Amino acid sequence: MTATHTELVIRPITGRDELDLFCQIPYLLNDELADDLDSGHRRPEWLWMALRGDRLVARAAWWKMSDHTAPGVLDIFDIDDGCSGPERLDTGVRLLREAAAAVIPAGTTPPEYSRFVSADWRDHPAARRAVEDRMKAAERTGARLFVERLRLEWRPGTPIPARTGRLAFVPVSDHDELITLMTAVMDGTLDAHGRRDLTQMSPAQAAARHYQGELAQYRSPREWWQIARLPGGAPAGFVIPAHNGYNPIIAYIAVLPAYRGNGYIDELLAEGTRILAAQDVPRIRASTDLGNVPMAAAFRRAGWAQFGRQINMTWD
Ligand SMILES: CC(C)(COP(=O)(O)OP(=O)(O)OC[C@H]1O[C@@H](n2cnc3c(N)ncnc32)[C@H](O)[C@@H]1OP(=O)(O)O)[C@@H](O)C(=O)NCCC(=O)NCCS
Repeated sequence: MTATHTELVIRPITGRDELDLFCQIPYLLNDELADDLDSGHRRPEWLWMALRGDRLVARAAWWKMSDHTAPGVLDIFDIDDGCSGPERLDTGVRLLREAAAAVIPAGTTPPEYSRFVSADWRDHPAARRAVEDRMKAAERTGARLFVERLRLEWRPGTPIPARTGRLAFVPVSDHDELITLMTAVMDGTLDAHGRRDLTQMSPAQAAARHYQGELAQYRSPREWWQIARLPGGAPAGFVIPAHNGYNPIIAYIAVLPAYRGNGYIDELLAEGTRILAAQDVPRIRASTDLGNVPMAAAFRRAGWAQFGRQINMTWD
């Protein structure tokens, strides 16, 4: 805990009784914090505030997969947009440095910063300033913009194309089969996280890490996971519909390198959507990199709405 001559106090919340104080700054995730504390996705000591008196002037919070122990993402980092003056960013920088020093295990790379933004955030001066100020403050602690992603949503009523018969869908038999296919699709991937992983480890290691770190954590039925086979039986791709505890999602979808450029992605996306729509879901969510042009085009063709974007920043 730190108090300075400017009466700035930087500290974590004492417990859920301080959630109202922590939520003085509006953000999409505020409504999830209480449940996240209950479900083990968050810990009070990971929700940090910079306070002047009873006014919240900056805040930071980390989230994790419930089975994990270390924080997986810095998904809240805010500076009170009502404050003005040059010390605004300084406060955010101080808060982030102090909180990260307490929360991030020593000697480990900090998890990335993820910020949800509107689809047109650059077109509105106030929204743009808010996002860019957070990014500038994060940059002053060593973060760099890593990738901007599209957030996409399928809504009930949006037609799902019927099967064409070009591909047969069969459930994934076991995790080895899936990891083998996940390894193969790393070749030529346009996904920024995948490309970064390939500079640091083998495709097989990257696939195994992705599987363990994300897909294996989902509690939704494994029977939903589908492999698409060509008439001769060869796998052409796969789709992983899931529920991440917040929303039904297309967690992963890919076409094997040899079969790209045939529009198979449309059929995989339709199949994954059909499986989740059969559960009578209110929406299905997915995201893809702005730079993953064929994937973004497939979502567009299938009538998915682009309801926002996401900025990801990383520390080396
Ligand atoms: C994204 C992906 C699923 C697209 O599958 P697809 O069935 O080849 O898509 P399309 O048939 O619609 O391809 C459209 C065009 O993009 C090209 N293309 C597709 N994937 C490409 C890639 N990874 N690199 C370069 N070009 C690619 C196709 O060759 C085709 O080009 P053309 O119009 O000149 O023929 C596939 O590239 C893939 O599996 N990538 C790795 C995994 C991934 O990124 N998944 C999405 C995570 S959100």
